[in-house]
Amino acid sequence: MAAEKTGSMKAVRYDSYGGGADGLKHVEVPIPSPKKNEILLKLEAASINPVDWKIQKGMLRPFLPPKFPFTPVADVTGEVAEVGSEVTAFKKGDKLVGMLNFPNGGGLAEFAVSPVNIMAIRPPELSPAEAAGLPTAAMTALQALKSVGTKFNANDEPSNILITAASGGVGHYALQLAKLAGHHVTATCGARNMELMKTMGADEVLDYKSPEGAKLKSPSGRKYDGVIHCTTNISWSTFEPNLSTKGKVIDITPTFMTMATYILKNTFSKKKLVPLLLNPKAEELQFIVSLAKEGKLKTVVDSTYPLSKAEEAWAKSISGHATGKIVVEM
Ligand SMILES: NC(=O)c1ccc[n+]([C@@H]2O[C@H](COP(=O)([O-])OP(=O)(O)OC[C@H]3O[C@@H](n4cnc5c(N)ncnc54)[C@H](OP(=O)(O)O)[C@@H]3O)[C@@H](O)[C@H]2O)c1
Repeated sequence: MAAEKTGSMKAVRYDSYGGGADGLKHVEVPIPSPKKNEILLKLEAASINPVDWKIQKGMLRPFLPPKFPFTPVADVTGEVAEVGSEVTAFKKGDKLVGMLNFPNGGGLAEFAVSPVNIMAIRPPELSPAEAAGLPTAAMTALQALKSVGTKFNANDEPSNILITAASGGVGHYALQLAKLAGHHVTATCGARNMELMKTMGADEVLDYKSPEGAKLKSPSGRKYDGVIHCTTNISWSTFEPNLSTKGKVIDITPTFMTMATYILKNTFSKKKLVPLLLNPKAEELQFIVSLAKEGKLKTVVDSTYPLSKAEEAWAKSISGHATGKIVVEM
């Protein structure tokens, strides 16, 4: 159970770039006070996304983090403990799920303040760990599927979709959302997760370490209309022969090299490589949470750690071998 508001709280933060899990420090700091447009959340759980440790690594310097020391993590769930004078959407005692104000973070702590623009009521059907997994990963999966034309309404035409790293945080939500939209899904993952991917609805599964998996070739010979690309180090020349005439790769981990190669090699083709950066939207969070409430979108919880062992959760995320979401509970 999270601490009551007493004046100070436990938090986990880092003071400089680098250091990985060893760079995280447990501190006792004052409980923050919400500004008039903010709420104070008594946190119950937070989920780690790769961007959290990429910021620590300095991959987004000089912009992020905004300052040191920095308490990382944005995806949280918890109970409203205090409400700023201008907040009308939620009240004290509401259980919420959402994103703390990017880029301020604050999720690895017992309390956090945030505006409420990317917050939704957490339905009782969702455990704190299941809810905390959703915001960044499921919204990214949703936006990636929308980028290949999925509307999530009755007008959706079934397409052939490839999801790389379908066992990861973003990928496992993308797999479920793609199936909800009626698509045929080919998923890539490690051998250990192939059965899980089938259970979660994948029509075809490729072990990314096998020769066929490395080529991304659909076992049934299908060409992909859309690729939700959730891992790194796959070149345009690997994607290109597997795409249908107007096939699109939505790249959520774009690099200068992949974009440059695509531009150089694809001048006259209708096949596209499209970089995607999550643009969090309240209505999309609400859509995701509603699907989860109805049991149509499930969070696979890779592992949970108490706040006192947040560095173990951090290390697990850095390892790149999560199945679903890594969660820290307060
Ligand atoms: N653009 C955006 O706005 C945005 C938003 C969210 C995330 N991202 C980025 O998207 C990437 C994925 O995020 P995530 O949270 O899903 O990561 P994650 O949960 O850490 O992904 C881990 C999973 O990826 C699998 N995997 C690793 N390499 C693979 C490969 N070559 N082929 C197939 N599967 C592979 C692993 O399987 P094994 O354990 O079996 O190896 C593991 O199950 C990260 O780089 C993240 O920073 C971008």
